Amino acid sequence: MKKILLTGSDGQLGRAMNIELAGTEYEIFNTDIFERDDIHALDITDLPKVMELMKELKPYAVVNCAAYTAVDAQEKDVDRSYMINAIGPRNLAIASRETGAKLLHISTDYVFKGDRNKPYNEFDKTGPVSTYGRTKLQGEKFVKAFADRYFIVRTAWLYGDGKNFVRTMLRLSESHDEVSVVCDQMGNPTSSKSLAKALHYLLPTDNYGLFHGTCEGECSWADFAEKIFELAGKETRVKHITTEEYKKMNPESTDRPAFSMLDNYMLRLTGDFRFDHWEDAIREYLWKKTL
Ligand SMILES: NC(=O)c1ccc[n+]([C@@H]2O[C@H](COP(=O)([O-])OP(=O)(O)OC[C@H]3O[C@@H](n4cnc5c(N)ncnc54)[C@H](OP(=O)(O)O)[C@@H]3O)[C@@H](O)[C@H]2O)c1
Repeated sequence: MKKILLTGSDGQLGRAMNIELAGTEYEIFNTDIFERDDIHALDITDLPKVMELMKELKPYAVVNCAAYTAVDAQEKDVDRSYMINAIGPRNLAIASRETGAKLLHISTDYVFKGDRNKPYNEFDKTGPVSTYGRTKLQGEKFVKAFADRYFIVRTAWLYGDGKNFVRTMLRLSESHDEVSVVCDQMGNPTSSKSLAKALHYLLPTDNYGLFHGTCEGECSWADFAEKIFELAGKETRVKHITTEEYKKMNPESTDRPAFSMLDNYMLRLTGDFRFDHWEDAIREYLWKKTL
């Protein structure tokens, strides 16, 4: 069995990776910030602890699903954001080089500015507009600088077993006839199940580097909400509002890229993995209750 050190195991993607790799050639050592059931405590910001565990486990690969993902909250929590999203991956990169492990790290579409209406590929210029985007971009740079063999996979609008937009919409539909959702931010809703399949595909290969990994097709948050209600059989209406209108209602919300659609160009160029279309993935998530 090939050992995998998984971080952020209790998050959406961490849970999906456990399902995806169950019964395969991989044996997962689950970790997260707090110890829970079969999850061991590992704070990725603690370099000596990361190094100690890596030297003891000598894993085939590290899959880093740990992150600080609350986009608005981290505007007032910048140090923590850099620690978890930049220093954490740096530590895993240093330990991976030291112990000969591959490193599979996850990043985000929010590394882009989003001021154009064409999908971004891996060779396009970054320009984050939020603390989350800036710290995740720095995480990527540290991985490139300190790891020998790495995959960085940028994903977007992720939903699975955890707190996410889909669950928020379904919760709101219980008490609201109408919800206001922004219609001028475009992206690629991606199920953690689809992403986990892509990571499983990359893991045994030597096809290292930077990849975009999102479900195919794009939509606005308002389109996404409408599809969720349609598939879940909800009568709730979606009021299309602009980001400016949303910000007036939620002054604490930080800037987000308007058009952060990603093109999975590197996966197309260098491999034969194809993501599901976002409409098929959300249908499967809601109908089959897959995570
Ligand atoms: N969610 C999205 O829409 C989205 C979009 C684009 C990219 N991504 C990226 O996709 C990856 C997976 O996201 P996700 O949605 O699965 O995230 P998630 O559900 O928020 O899970 C992240 C996990 O990491 C844990 N964690 C936080 N700080 C840690 C630390 N210092 N050491 C170890 N674990 C720590 C969290 O614990 P606590 O919950 O206790 O903090 C949580 O269990 C991340 O790299 C994220 O940046 C996500």
